[in-house]
Amino acid sequence: MSEGGERRRRAGGDADAGMSGYSDLVRDHFQNPRNVGAIAEADAVGYQTNPVCGDTMRLTLRVNGGRIVEARFQTSGCPAAIATSSVCTEMIRGQTLAEAEALTKEDYAAALGGLPASKMHCSVLAADTVRAAAADYPQRTAH
Ligand code: FES
Repeated sequence: MSEGGERRRRAGGDADAGMSGYSDLVRDHFQNPRNVGAIAEADAVGYQTNPVCGDTMRLTLRVNGGRIVEARFQTSGCPAAIATSSVCTEMIRGQTLAEAEALTKEDYAAALGGLPASKMHCSVLAADTVRAAAADYPQRTAH
């Protein structure tokens, strides 16, 4: 359940409700999320639930030459969760899986101009889901 009385939204939501305290970048990524969706026959898939609130993120990756060449997400959660998911897909494109795994929730929050202290836990969802996708990759490619 989302905290703070915010209504749960899916990526692509355009409501401005519950947006006080967020940076312009958070608002932009929430209202115009990048790379929403799923990659067919992805090279790696990650799925995580935020242990604090139960919000979820699914991340699909296409990997070529050891680097992430495409990333798409489906997140059901609060504005901070959707914004960090969106900026995450932009940040990890072009990176190796190891580089992407090394990104922290603080990195995602910083890329959005910061998050309110009460919403920092939301950015862990993107970091955890990238790690889940990186762990999934060897299983899909080991044939
Ligand atoms: S309240 Fe669940 S991720 Fe933000």
